[in-house]
Amino acid sequence: MAPPERFSNLPAYAFPRLRRLLADVTPGPDPVVMTIGEPRHAIPDFVAPTLARTVDQLAKYPSNDGTPELLAAISGWIGTRHGIDVAPDRITVLNGTREGLFNAALALCPEDKNGARPNVLIPNPFYQVYAVAAAAVGAQAVFVPATTDTGHLPDFAALDPATLDATAICYLCSPANPQGAVADRDYLETLVALADRHDFLIFADECYSEIWRDTPPPGTLAVAQGMGLADRVVMFNSLSKRSNLPGLRSGFAAGSADAIARFRVLRSYAGAPVPLPHQRVSEVAWADEDHVTENRALYQQKYAIADRVLGNVPGYLPPQGGFFLWLPVADGEAAARRLWAEAGVQVLPGAYLSRDVDGANPGKGYIRVALVGPAAETEDALIRLRDCLFQEGS
Ligand SMILES: Cc1ncc(COP(=O)(O)O)c(C=O)c1O
Repeated sequence: MAPPERFSNLPAYAFPRLRRLLADVTPGPDPVVMTIGEPRHAIPDFVAPTLARTVDQLAKYPSNDGTPELLAAISGWIGTRHGIDVAPDRITVLNGTREGLFNAALALCPEDKNGARPNVLIPNPFYQVYAVAAAAVGAQAVFVPATTDTGHLPDFAALDPATLDATAICYLCSPANPQGAVADRDYLETLVALADRHDFLIFADECYSEIWRDTPPPGTLAVAQGMGLADRVVMFNSLSKRSNLPGLRSGFAAGSADAIARFRVLRSYAGAPVPLPHQRVSEVAWADEDHVTENRALYQQKYAIADRVLGNVPGYLPPQGGFFLWLPVADGEAAARRLWAEAGVQVLPGAYLSRDVDGANPGKGYIRVALVGPAAETEDALIRLRDCLFQEGS
């Protein structure tokens, strides 16, 4: 039997590709890995006692949608952070945003739009799950450049009306992985109006929303709700980055009652519920901002380090949010090999996060650098990186 065609064009995942790229390279002294976006700050103090107190609840099957207490905590957080009222029936708990961003497409993408195969709009570069979700539902992925020319956010409004009319879903990531760009209120209002005019849904991936430089990024659902168009948006967030708990696997989606009801039905059959002790920890985490403020301050310190060390590098983009640097280089793969060999710093070639469109890959001339380690280690590694790639004569 032949394997399914729909996944045949998927490139290998970024990290196996990186392992192959660097397989024959001996790293320079004191190797530092800055590839994976896994937070390395301390987990909050309340996690261990809450888990210990609730461990007996592993004897129960967890609720798929989320316990009433957790849904109330998330609703409370959305109210405080985004200033909107989102009732618990408009929220579903997720096993992290990754599964949600995938499963929401299964639950909400129609088989056809106006009689044709639907489009799914995806920023390029992007978090790779979006493309796999589009492939899984048999939609046409339309990769929309998010480059220097477009302020590192996708210019969806520049697409032709026929493409937009055929669109069912549009993924947006703000703060953006990998570029660190943040969509402001105007951008979001334009996008929500576009979604309404052309009848599509926005899947707003906001998992970096609590890691920002100066001001909290606006939320897409809040903007849409203010315009009376909340049914155009499903927002996704998680505790992975906000609370340094990527291993807890705990997030949520929020949107219209109708979209969430349909999403809940799918997840009740095929979703991975969050274990009850993890739901109890999540309840505490969404209700606490102190640990989030402390965590953000650590990232802000590292933005300042990056600005200081790399500020003179041509094309350096000070990240407005998230924890990645998106650094322009002549060739991302060549730079990654050289950095690992000469400086002992491991980074990800930007092409592994982007897709070729018409023979060009918008990530080819970039490397992504994760600022997830301690400040001193980060500073030392960025100096080594700068001296290796950007010094006169290098
Ligand atoms: C842009 C983006 N979205 C979603 C995720 C998934 O995160 P999680 O499933 O831990 O919430 C990540 C993880 O790195 C990410 O970078």
